[in-house]
Amino acid sequence: MGHPHLLSPGRIGTLSLRNRILMCPMGDDQASHGGYVTPAQIAYYEARARGGAALLLVGSVGITAPDGLASPEQSAIGSDEHVEGWARLASAVQAHGAKLALQLVHNGKAAVEDIIAGRPLMVPSLPDAPPSADPLMGMLTPDEAGRMGTPAQVSGAPPTYHEMTRQDIADMAERYADAVERAKRAGVDACELHAGHGYLIDNFLSPTTNHRTDEYGGSVENRARFLVDVLHAIRRRVGHDYPVWCRINGEEFFVEGERIEDACRVAELAEAAGSDAFHVSAYADPSRAIGYTEAHSTHVPGRFVAFGAAIKKRVGVPVITVGRIEPDAAETILAEGRADFVAMGRKLLADPDLPNKLAAGEPESIRPCMYHYRCISQIFERSKIRCAVNAFTGFESERRLEPASVQRRVLVVGGGPAGMEAARLASLRGHSVVLAEASSRLGGRFALAARTAEPNAALLRWLEGEMGRRGVEVRLGTRLEADAIARAGHDVVIVATGARWPRPELPGADRAQVRTVDELAGWLGVEHGQAKERDPLHDARHVVVIGGNRAGVALAMVARSRGADVVVLEPGTVFAAANGLVGRWRYVHEAVEAGVRLEARSRVTSIAADAVVWQDADGRAQRTRADLVLVSSGAVSEAGLADALGARGIETHAIGDCAAVGLVEGAMHGAAELVLRL
Ligand SMILES: Cc1cc2nc3c(=O)[nH]c(=O)nc-3n(C[C@H](O)[C@H](O)[C@H](O)COP(=O)(O)O)c2cc1C
Repeated sequence: MGHPHLLSPGRIGTLSLRNRILMCPMGDDQASHGGYVTPAQIAYYEARARGGAALLLVGSVGITAPDGLASPEQSAIGSDEHVEGWARLASAVQAHGAKLALQLVHNGKAAVEDIIAGRPLMVPSLPDAPPSADPLMGMLTPDEAGRMGTPAQVSGAPPTYHEMTRQDIADMAERYADAVERAKRAGVDACELHAGHGYLIDNFLSPTTNHRTDEYGGSVENRARFLVDVLHAIRRRVGHDYPVWCRINGEEFFVEGERIEDACRVAELAEAAGSDAFHVSAYADPSRAIGYTEAHSTHVPGRFVAFGAAIKKRVGVPVITVGRIEPDAAETILAEGRADFVAMGRKLLADPDLPNKLAAGEPESIRPCMYHYRCISQIFERSKIRCAVNAFTGFESERRLEPASVQRRVLVVGGGPAGMEAARLASLRGHSVVLAEASSRLGGRFALAARTAEPNAALLRWLEGEMGRRGVEVRLGTRLEADAIARAGHDVVIVATGARWPRPELPGADRAQVRTVDELAGWLGVEHGQAKERDPLHDARHVVVIGGNRAGVALAMVARSRGADVVVLEPGTVFAAANGLVGRWRYVHEAVEAGVRLEARSRVTSIAADAVVWQDADGRAQRTRADLVLVSSGAVSEAGLADALGARGIETHAIGDCAAVGLVEGAMHGAAELVLRL
């Protein structure tokens, strides 16, 4: 499919854009303490500008820093000292033909830094009693919990609130105008007011957080008054030519909050006050663990498109739509006139060159996002941006893919994600690369993951395609021993032979109904010379999964979708631990909704002929019927070949699961870290 609409130039107010692809505002936490632009940030945005997007939005730039921020490394434009950094970033982006916009925010009730500093949170009205937290949000590893540092833990004090007076409101509107004026002075092309996602302006817009009885509360016109005041203050300050628009929620999910009818009216009022466009997202009750994957960074493709289309019918300015929109869907949306621009976030973290690859007619070469949610989870952990599938995201200034000074003959052993990514990168650096894979197909154990979720399958297809596109010589069905490798005379060997999933050391583990992840590979027909086996999940009615990691939960979902009763037994308290926490909350929620029973702190004691015997969290003996037992835990790194080659004095590097079980994210990052040193 071509993408003529997506690739055609467009305008927002006075701003000319080379195509219709915008990079979503995404808080990246790469600023220095105090919110100043860093070289890392410049390199990160420059990569996306070079990749062909028309406009890059910098997410959540604090207008009153150090007040009103959610994290200490959040970008800011609270003072004149911030201007110089934005000027540097703007010219770096503009040098590649892209435009730069800052998304301006005061984090309002979500200004965690205010809580930590003991400052009251600025709010339109005092909050109701906090909603009871979703227990699923407590499913955190100790490391994650430590990094998140809830405000109460950090400051030892509960949040306090300041109900904004009319004077505060007037002053705050001027602070927005100050920020826009500074952005304009810095040469930044445009500003977006963050009027969604539960931040200050949205706290006024939403009836869930605005209980005022004066002219700033009550009717939608009153709730929109603060936004309108802000726009008026900005227009007074910078005139009507400087492009400024708003990001608003089409709806608020899971609460009696903003509705699309409200959002349409807000847009009409804001347009009259000088907004040049509307960027239509959504928000959800933040106390719900799946709130962040329902709204905000939605898991549901195209979830907000209808909201944007409804607003477009009511305003005369352009509408930017967003929310897990693939390029083909984006093209259709634009062709049907349901939006004027499409913002993409996670896809540009996974592949900054997406727009250029579309323009070159090579959509198959775009690295897909696998919806693992590492990126958004970093925000919760108050850590800088990172991507599970692209090891360069957030590391653009340190990890540079440059031609190697000496071209070497590189052998990669193992065709899973680590091996393929290493082969791809080594080839891009100019090395001559052979990849040997023992089985008859690429993918390693990730091929099994690809059967459980389409984004995994898409990533695998991309990696396989890259072998051909990057000129890697792939030898399937080639099991290499150390002696043969030693004789072949490669300059360097990368061992990426993955991990093994042996049968657990349990009474009954040798029974026929037990399958480890390795044994399921037969189901895929991936082992060399092995006939494709009948799908073992086909007839199973009662399935027990031992190990609640991502693979365990995914296999449980497949079994459940075939109608089996499924119980997952996990010794720890965290399921799908390898996922970013936001993704975990989504996948665990989906598993529970589908009827999978998850048993934390459970200990398997034996496997009987028709059941698994285990101890529950309270130490009580349990027996669960099972005609199929899937073992997803207990992976052991396959380090033998690497050790044998090392002993022969050959330059050898082990990466991926054979070095340390780290799944796809570990594979991609490990491969990049190594190949950049070769
Ligand atoms: C890492 C990350 C950070 C984000 N930060 C912001 C932000 O600062 N402001 C905002 O309005 N939205 C933010 N979002 C939401 C995105 O702008 C976007 O609406 C969402 O990711 C859906 O688009 P996508 O499916 O193309 O990723 C963030 C999303 C991600 C993944």
